[in-house]
Amino acid sequence: MDGLIRAANAPLAFRLVLALPAIVMLSRFALSGGGLGHVLQASGEWAARLLIVTLAVTPIRMIFKGHHWPMWLFKRRRDLGLAAFLYALLHLAVYVVRQSNIHVILYDLQYKEYLTGWLALTLMLMLTLISNDRLLHSLGLWWKRLQRAAYLAALAVFLHWIWMKLDDTPALAHFIPLVLLEAWRLWYRFARPGAQRREGPP
Ligand code: HEM
Repeated sequence: MDGLIRAANAPLAFRLVLALPAIVMLSRFALSGGGLGHVLQASGEWAARLLIVTLAVTPIRMIFKGHHWPMWLFKRRRDLGLAAFLYALLHLAVYVVRQSNIHVILYDLQYKEYLTGWLALTLMLMLTLISNDRLLHSLGLWWKRLQRAAYLAALAVFLHWIWMKLDDTPALAHFIPLVLLEAWRLWYRFARPGAQRREGPP
């Protein structure tokens, strides 16, 4: 049992778990010999899922204060965010390969469903670039403010998803839990009896 816990704590083991969906979707593509459509969809979904989990970590930690596992998750926020970005890059790479024409890619940009995808990816790139200890210390309070772009990225992903697909249900099923957690967090911070206004997680 101790060995299992130690293995799960090892950064490499956690990163391997995060890589599993990519391994599955790419093997499926390689073995089935079908098109890249499934990889495009699955990579988009995993990018969105991991972004949601990254954002959900702080409210979960607040709700389950005193428990060990939310802290375990909290310490892996950076890996989760990086994995979300890498899945989004895979998603973009598949889209580019499928379109295989810069004019078509630029033409697509006039549509809101594509524009929101690009906006989300740009914000996720910025968040990935600033997610290191050096910038955390040198940017100070600005680092925390810039991190809030993750919420804008999540909103852009939600709009990208519902505008891209005819059925809103999968996007709603993914984002409603995050909205509820964030609503609780806002209530806890600002509206609960005895709440004080302040910056950053408790
Ligand atoms: C870089 C710009 C982006 C482009 C050009 C793009 C392109 C696309 C396209 C063409 C689809 C339709 C797939 C299909 O129905 O076959 C799609 C769906 C989707 N995209 Fe993106 N996307 C971008 C960024 C993102 C980002 C950053 C995320 C998440 C973090 C994301 C998440 C999704 C999701 C969840 C879907 C629905 C997948 C499904 O069918 O279940 N996309 N995207």
